[in-house]
Amino acid sequence: MTQEIITEIIGKYEPDQSSLIAVLQDVQEHFGYLPKDALTDVSKELDVPLSRVLSLATFYSAFSLQPKGKHPVHVCMGTACHVRGAQPVLEAFERELGIKDGETSEDLEFSLDTVRCVGCCGLAPVVMVGEDVHGKISQSKVSRVTKKYKK
Ligand code: FES
Repeated sequence: MTQEIITEIIGKYEPDQSSLIAVLQDVQEHFGYLPKDALTDVSKELDVPLSRVLSLATFYSAFSLQPKGKHPVHVCMGTACHVRGAQPVLEAFERELGIKDGETSEDLEFSLDTVRCVGCCGLAPVVMVGEDVHGKISQSKVSRVTKKYKK
């Protein structure tokens, strides 16, 4: 199944290493992350060593080798958010979700990542859950925000 999807993705591009980033972007968009099998297939089909594929996949922070949660939580750690208390907010999410920055919950419901400025500094500190922007977040609001997305 994975192989068929990879073949289809690669079919849209030149079948060589110049297409590697574009192919990885499409693979990530399709699966929500870069599954190991998919990287092996990309390596074979584009005739690029797996070590090169892996080093690109780990170099760019937009790529993830871990599955992301159904509700990706992004805590902004840009300057405006940082000075208005983003760090304690991040720690509150870590406690509330039981995962650390960069991790995904076992039930695949939530993942937690930090980002640099999401462009709403006036609402700092800001947290995004999927496409939803939550501004002026404080530690005490974290539980209310996560409750909205829990099953
Ligand atoms: S620094 Fe957080 S939105 Fe700009």
